[in-house]
Amino acid sequence: MALAFSPEADREITDIIGRYPERAAALIPVLFVAQDEFTYLSEEVLELVAERLDLPAAKVLNTATFYTMLRKAPVGKHHVQVCRTLSCYLRGADQLMATAQRKLGIAPGETTGDGRFTLEGVECLAACGTAPIVRINDVYHENVTPASLERLLDALASGKGEPVGGGGGD
Ligand code: FES
Repeated sequence: MALAFSPEADREITDIIGRYPERAAALIPVLFVAQDEFTYLSEEVLELVAERLDLPAAKVLNTATFYTMLRKAPVGKHHVQVCRTLSCYLRGADQLMATAQRKLGIAPGETTGDGRFTLEGVECLAACGTAPIVRINDVYHENVTPASLERLLDALASGKGEPVGGGGGD
């Protein structure tokens, strides 16, 4: 069966399109709707978005590729995003990334074999005042230290931490 938006997502897209004078301007919000609906933007999903907005597939792909918050590959149940931009970098993002890599046994861009964790270095998450920031799915963790990150990852691994919206998996 061909890929299609749910009626709810389709209504949301119609609403978004109505807010902009040109369809191209609706592209980014529509890509976020597509990501919420399908968990990540596969080639097939990008084609669906291009079709729905009547835009060239190359434009949709270029836009999706540019924004790190738009996922182009499936992610684990817990999507661990370590901000690596200046404020976070100056306050220890490198140590956080090293801690996450050691705890999870994966490199940035990888997912654990059991599909539970994906680790990623991302650009500014717009919460620089409480740097360093680690976002896990939709939840921001502020003023993170290697020790607090370690505790957080342990809790998620043991199932004590609640999985939060936005990641893929079960
Ligand atoms: S630099 Fe990390 S949130 Fe802005």
